[in-house]
Amino acid sequence: MNAKTMRIAVFVLSFIWLVNGELLEADQDASVPEDWILVERVGPLEEVELIFALKQQNVNQMEELLKLVSDPDSHQYGKHLSLEEVAALVRPSQLTEKVVQNWLQSHGVKNCHTVVTQDFLQCVMTVQVAETLLPGTKFHRYRRDSHTLLRSTSLYSVHEDVHQHLDFVGGVHRFPPKGKDISKGWEGARQSALGYHLGVTPSVIRSRYNLTAKDVGTATNNSQAVAQFLEQYYHPADLAEFMSLFAGGFTHMSAVERVVGTQGGGKAGIEASLDVEYIMSSGANISTWVFTNPGRHESQEPFLQWMVLLSNMSAVPWVHTISYGDDEDSLSDAYMNRINTEFMKAGLRGISMLFASGDSGAGCRHLTKERNTFRPSFPASSPYVTTVGGTSFKNPFKLTYEVTDYISGGGFSNVFARPGYQVAAVEAYLKSVQPLPPQTYFNITGRAYPDLAALSDNYWVVTNRVPVPWISGTSASTPVVGGILSLINDQRFLKGLPSLGFINPRLYKLQGKGLYDVTEGCHLSCLDDKVEGKGFCASPSWDPVTGWGTPNYPALLKALMD
Ligand SMILES: *[C@@H]1O[C@H](CO)[C@@H](O)[C@H](O)[C@H]1NC(C)=O
Ligand SMILES: *[C@@H]1O[C@H](CO)[C@@H](O)[C@H](O)[C@H]1NC(C)=O
Ligand SMILES: *[C@@H]1O[C@H](CO)[C@@H](O)[C@H](O)[C@H]1NC(C)=O
Ligand SMILES: *[C@@H]1O[C@H](CO)[C@@H](O)[C@H](O)[C@H]1NC(C)=O
Ligand SMILES: *[C@@H]1O[C@H](CO)[C@@H](O)[C@H](O)[C@H]1NC(C)=O
Repeated sequence: MNAKTMRIAVFVLSFIWLVNGELLEADQDASVPEDWILVERVGPLEEVELIFALKQQNVNQMEELLKLVSDPDSHQYGKHLSLEEVAALVRPSQLTEKVVQNWLQSHGVKNCHTVVTQDFLQCVMTVQVAETLLPGTKFHRYRRDSHTLLRSTSLYSVHEDVHQHLDFVGGVHRFPPKGKDISKGWEGARQSALGYHLGVTPSVIRSRYNLTAKDVGTATNNSQAVAQFLEQYYHPADLAEFMSLFAGGFTHMSAVERVVGTQGGGKAGIEASLDVEYIMSSGANISTWVFTNPGRHESQEPFLQWMVLLSNMSAVPWVHTISYGDDEDSLSDAYMNRINTEFMKAGLRGISMLFASGDSGAGCRHLTKERNTFRPSFPASSPYVTTVGGTSFKNPFKLTYEVTDYISGGGFSNVFARPGYQVAAVEAYLKSVQPLPPQTYFNITGRAYPDLAALSDNYWVVTNRVPVPWISGTSASTPVVGGILSLINDQRFLKGLPSLGFINPRLYKLQGKGLYDVTEGCHLSCLDDKVEGKGFCASPSWDPVTGWGTPNYPALLKALMD
């Protein structure tokens, strides 16, 4: 059986359960990614942790409010809400709470925790109970390297009475995506053999983006965060060594202020080291938090768990950068729509969410032997986050201008329509750039990304006490941009202004002001004879490869200081 017939079989089988209930997330890909190995069927008395996403109220109202507080031309610009105010808006109806609670209680599920917004319930129960609660599920243990988790690879239904009160149940499907290979080791080694030995360090970043020694954080209440979910840990000693080796000439911190979640005891991951080292170099002297694998119960969905955690903490940093993404086509619409409302909640609170655009250019999905399409990634494709692409120096040995890094993720969502703030920019691109890739490869009406970019090529990172060169990826550019937005927040706080919050509506109104436009180069895509590995190309003004371009700090600060 190939994957497709398998999915159809699973789908048909699941209908048997319709007698008791209705499918939630019928469009979720429940197949096992090839890098996960089946270990065993899980015993009935083993425990599993599930997250119930309860239907929220006033989602449309929240979306309208987000537009107002993020639009610099609105009287409500910057009038952000506290978590408690967000809770008053979205909290599920009493009926929803009651129905879901009764349903759980009637199955003997007692060990549940809720959040301030009351819209998530995180519950531990035995596998036996979970399988009766969610007809269709059958939990197995899977392993990838040293990481194990519980998942069901058949779709699930819920009792018809609760169906309308839930968005989805977390911890059943969705394997954590594979961390990317962010080292261009071979290419780097080749350059080194030719005698070049230059790479991106904090001083390169700071001079390219026009940060002077004075451009560091000074406000007492400022903070920024990186979030890590893929069994990635940073090591405090690596950070300290990185700062002493590379961070001369500007005031900075050399330790993380707060770690939320559990850091594993294993080796440091390059990606985690990269995030922390660079957000603390561009956002220098700003208090930095690391969110890492919150909750360690087997079967968790760490990304979802992080979103749940944000709805339970009234004070969280103002800027979050995240290098995490999954193929849009592997996720259910119900899940993505709900994650979007979680991003709206963050935006309403004045929090900026920055996601890496991905490292596979436009991506490629093989539909049939003959037919390919590009493959957007989520949350990069969400209309409610700011997505960061990647660039490299035109001349890798000089602080020259930037061109597209061919890996820079970008393209058009197949799920989310183009949000109002980017309509003019994207239409201008579509009109002026010819030829575009064939329209069978992408959905021309979708949310287009990224929104902006920064250098993503040839970074130095210290990991496991060793300085490592040639690290590349949009996981490098994202914390750099995050740190720069934190510096702008800092200046705003000193003037008594609110945080930037969800910046896209304002960013698109700037029309590129405060950014270096990136106009050269194309990113990669399907290696077939129709597109020959080429996706979209950069162009003057906004493009779906580097967005509006890369930050010129003093100019961007000036444009965002009211
Ligand atoms: C949310 O925070 C409260 C208070 O600290 C705690 O009791 C509860 O368990 C938390 N919820 C979750 C899902 O962790
Ligand atoms: C660094 O930040 C602290 C507040 O966290 C501030 O008191 C100090 O002046 C800052 N250092 C510089 C050089 O601005
Ligand atoms: C710092 O921020 C917290 C919320 O994040 C707020 O409650 C507090 O009043 C702020 N303090 C100052 C001095 O602005
Ligand atoms: C194209 O995107 C829109 C949302 O903008 C969506 O409704 C539609 O289904 C998508 N079409 C395809 C073929 O994916
Ligand atoms: C930024 O730096 C470049 C190169 O050093 C310089 O030419 C430019 O004037 C600077 N821009 C601003 C706005 O300060």
